[in-house]
Amino acid sequence: MNKTLIAYFSHAGQNYFGGQYKVLTEGNTKRLAKKLQALTNADIFEIEPKKTYPEYYKECCDEALAEQKQNAFVELKNYLPSIETYENIVLAYPCWWGTMPRAVFTFLAHYDFSKKNIYPICTHEGSGMGSSVDDLKRVCKGNIKKWLAVRGSAVDTADSTLASFVSETGIKNS
Ligand SMILES: Cc1cc2nc3c(=O)[nH]c(=O)nc-3n(C[C@H](O)[C@H](O)[C@H](O)COP(=O)(O)O)c2cc1C
Repeated sequence: MNKTLIAYFSHAGQNYFGGQYKVLTEGNTKRLAKKLQALTNADIFEIEPKKTYPEYYKECCDEALAEQKQNAFVELKNYLPSIETYENIVLAYPCWWGTMPRAVFTFLAHYDFSKKNIYPICTHEGSGMGSSVDDLKRVCKGNIKKWLAVRGSAVDTADSTLASFVSETGIKNS
């Protein structure tokens, strides 16, 4: 039975990538989550909002900011029926306006994490984890063990960083 779940949110489309705009067919966090899955053999779940965010970076930023100001509840397409069997939850997300996207807050509100080890991983373009770890502590009773910030534009070369994270945390499934 797998002890680790990787739950991630990611947004494809136009993004600000290493100082310039670039259209990503697969978002940075999704690529990171897939690499981590290959390293750990963990189960993987994509946190998908029902709504579609604008493809263009600026429009997406505006919408995300408005949501954040309202503490909006962003509905998700689906949920895992249970997370009971997992000891470890890797929560991967892009930094949106200094914290987690609202859809990740929705995911967090849905389950009881009190007996889980939580490993937040944030992809970003300069803010690092932002306030996301503090925000996570506020809304999630899990035991936040260790976190990792990876620059979105460096995900494709982050293999050794991710491998170290896996060995330091022991989140690999046997
Ligand atoms: C709506 C939005 C808000 C963002 N806000 C920040 C931010 O506050 N700080 C930062 O460093 N990067 C910010 N970024 C950049 C993303 O965090 C970064 O490109 C991330 O790797 C995107 O991951 P994704 O492709 O999986 O969605 C923002 C991007 C978007 C689309």
